[in-house]
Amino acid sequence: MKPRILVLYYTQTGQLRQILNSIISDIAGKADIDFAAIEPVKPFPFPWTTLDFFDAMPETVAHIPIPVKPLDPSITSKDYDLIIFGYQPWFLNPSQPVIGFLNAEYAKIFNGKPVITVIGCRNMWLHAQEKVKSYLKDANATLVGNIVLTDTNPNLISTLTVIRWAFKGQKEASGMLPKAGVQDKDITDAKRFGETIYKHLVSDNLIDLQTQLLANGAVHLKPGLVILEQRGIKNFRIWSKFIRKKGGPGDPNRAGRVMMFKNLLIVAIFILSPISSFTALIQLLIKRNSLLKDVAYFKELGYDKGRI
Ligand SMILES: Cc1cc2nc3c(=O)[nH]c(=O)nc-3n(C[C@H](O)[C@H](O)[C@H](O)COP(=O)(O)O)c2cc1C
Repeated sequence: MKPRILVLYYTQTGQLRQILNSIISDIAGKADIDFAAIEPVKPFPFPWTTLDFFDAMPETVAHIPIPVKPLDPSITSKDYDLIIFGYQPWFLNPSQPVIGFLNAEYAKIFNGKPVITVIGCRNMWLHAQEKVKSYLKDANATLVGNIVLTDTNPNLISTLTVIRWAFKGQKEASGMLPKAGVQDKDITDAKRFGETIYKHLVSDNLIDLQTQLLANGAVHLKPGLVILEQRGIKNFRIWSKFIRKKGGPGDPNRAGRVMMFKNLLIVAIFILSPISSFTALIQLLIKRNSLLKDVAYFKELGYDKGRI
């Protein structure tokens, strides 16, 4: 009998679905594969307005669940051998639809199942993955693999192109800026992971899967990004609390604080970034060994609560 795989995912622009399609493309005939999209009851706008985009930060960081549509009974009634779970970080945390799903009763689909996480993002996913690890643990799932596809352009370039993409809906290259998002070639090349996953699944050896995925280049991580995420998440938590004191999502009373957060983030990214990259470099030199340990930890699947 063919192994049964559920590909469960959220995507706003379709990028993550493309990545998942590529991963399973070579094994589609050999496995019985179902796709299930996570859909928020109230979809998020795309392209975003500036206010809507930054107004999504406080609840994302506080992991406030939003309602999501139920999974189809044809999915919930099936017993899968593997779940491939595709998600993306928003503001260094799992996106709101994903948090909505993980908190909903449908998350019991993970109970007792091996799970491979697939992340498609700009380049900051560490804290989001720690959160997902903890939810999967609570749902009694076993994380057996993690594949991360990022935009490999320099940090400032990928920030500019993601801004153009999010606020204008324009993914294509323009002026001096390249195309936004994960590079097309990296999406196409992700098909190399399918056969590895299939082989480990049918030989009942999922325990060794991540070692093989890593050997195939499933996760690239620069130590400097660990420092940037540690700094970012601390600040986001402070701002999330500060904004939420003025009201819930969309409350006009908090719009002033939301825009203050936006302006500070822009200053931090574009003006303070050269300074913070310099201090990060010093930190990198001083703490090199402990950062290399962090990099090794984040490439693996274990979960140490409070690691970031
Ligand atoms: C509100 C919002 C916040 C985001 N925050 C992050 C982030 O913290 N780290 C990151 O690497 N990418 C971030 N991104 C990019 C997404 O992870 C993702 O790559 C992009 O939205 C396309 O994904 P999708 O079309 O599959 O939903 C963010 C995108 C949005 C819309």
